[in-house]
Amino acid sequence: MCCEGAESTESTRKKIIAIDLFCGAGGLTRGLLDAGIEVKMGIDFDDSFRRSYEHNNKPAIFYRADVRTLNGNDLERNLDIKPTELFLMAACAPCQPFSRHINNHRYDRRKSLLLEVGRILTEFQRKPDFLLLENVPRIYKIDNGRILKKFLRLMANLGYNYKADVIDAKHYGVPQTRRRFIMLAVRKELYAGKVVFPDRIYGKGLLPYKTVRNAIAHLPRLRAGQRHKSVPNHECANMRDINRKRLSHVPKNGGSRTAWPKELILNCHVDHTGHKDVYGRMKWDAPSPTLTCRCTSISNGRFGHPIQLRAISLREAAFLQTFPEDYEFFGMFGNMAMQIGNAVPVRLAKILGEYLVNLPICRQPKFVLEGGQAWSAGNGIQIYPMKSEHRARSSGRSLQILFLGTVDCIR
Ligand SMILES: C[S@@+](CC[C@H](N)C(=O)[O-])C[C@H]1O[C@@H](n2cnc3c(N)ncnc32)[C@H](O)[C@@H]1O
Repeated sequence: MCCEGAESTESTRKKIIAIDLFCGAGGLTRGLLDAGIEVKMGIDFDDSFRRSYEHNNKPAIFYRADVRTLNGNDLERNLDIKPTELFLMAACAPCQPFSRHINNHRYDRRKSLLLEVGRILTEFQRKPDFLLLENVPRIYKIDNGRILKKFLRLMANLGYNYKADVIDAKHYGVPQTRRRFIMLAVRKELYAGKVVFPDRIYGKGLLPYKTVRNAIAHLPRLRAGQRHKSVPNHECANMRDINRKRLSHVPKNGGSRTAWPKELILNCHVDHTGHKDVYGRMKWDAPSPTLTCRCTSISNGRFGHPIQLRAISLREAAFLQTFPEDYEFFGMFGNMAMQIGNAVPVRLAKILGEYLVNLPICRQPKFVLEGGQAWSAGNGIQIYPMKSEHRARSSGRSLQILFLGTVDCIR
């Protein structure tokens, strides 16, 4: 249903409050904040991400909790979202159980985290107005897609319009090929139209893709194992002598280990044609490969610097994930690489957030109140609960005119 007669739709341009489940070090939160969404809280069970998260995303707070133990009612009480505010729940249930790097995912209990998100959703008295999910594309295949199907059925039953599909971050200005499952959902009573993904901006026939060169070429040189004195997090992993030798044989600007002399080839690669990217170098003039939680180690992917004798630094990885230059990471080296590699690219998150912020939503007052409360419309008008027999009459034009402009959403 949408408002007919008076102002039928308008940009939300109002406060959207958000929580970010599985927030990690805050890539998604940062993007949503940049889009003008007020992220109140990020939730993650790994406390080692707290400092990076809170330092860079003020005033959002990091709440340490296992999502499986959260109760929607408690969460709602803590968030204390006003009736006039819109509410977004974002959730990036971890991708490891679905990742193609992990073969034995059948018994991984984390694979049902998506259904935990569904449970929390049903426990909310006030359902979120928007939902934003991110995951890996293989989510379609796990358990023959049963988990995802179940979740999407729930979304439809709870009255959401949604768009769920795989997108590539490089089409949105991220200098990295990063295909991810995204779901954007909006409560039907706010927006009856079709939910779509934001238009691609980069790619064939559009702007040229952002590249590794665009993202990292300006950074000062480093040696393997070195930390730059003044550029925060511009530090890279050390390498054993044998790996230095190996990387020195990899042609600059996109070369791979196929160029190694025989004596340097690893035993495990002798009869193995897979994992071609490991020990490779990135190409200057293309988006980088997908960063992972081990994106600063050459033995874990094509994470060699295009021309220097080393893997990419943490700062370079952060730039390839479109974190702003003042975003600082804290923790042990490997932990910071995980914070960066796991993140939703900030630019993609911002574009998705802006889509929600600008969505023309229906703000028709809902006249039927539950639970016997009386609401103040903010200008002295009191609205009282009406019995069902009054509902038909309350949709009359005079009542609409009385409340329009004074009441946004009443629940
Ligand atoms: C893909 S990362 C999220 C990245 C984050 N959205 C960002 O943009 O930076 C997934 C996160 O889920 C967290 N996690 C995994 N299982 C969890 C659970 N049961 N409860 C809370 N957090 C969990 C991990 O610690 C990890 O930080």
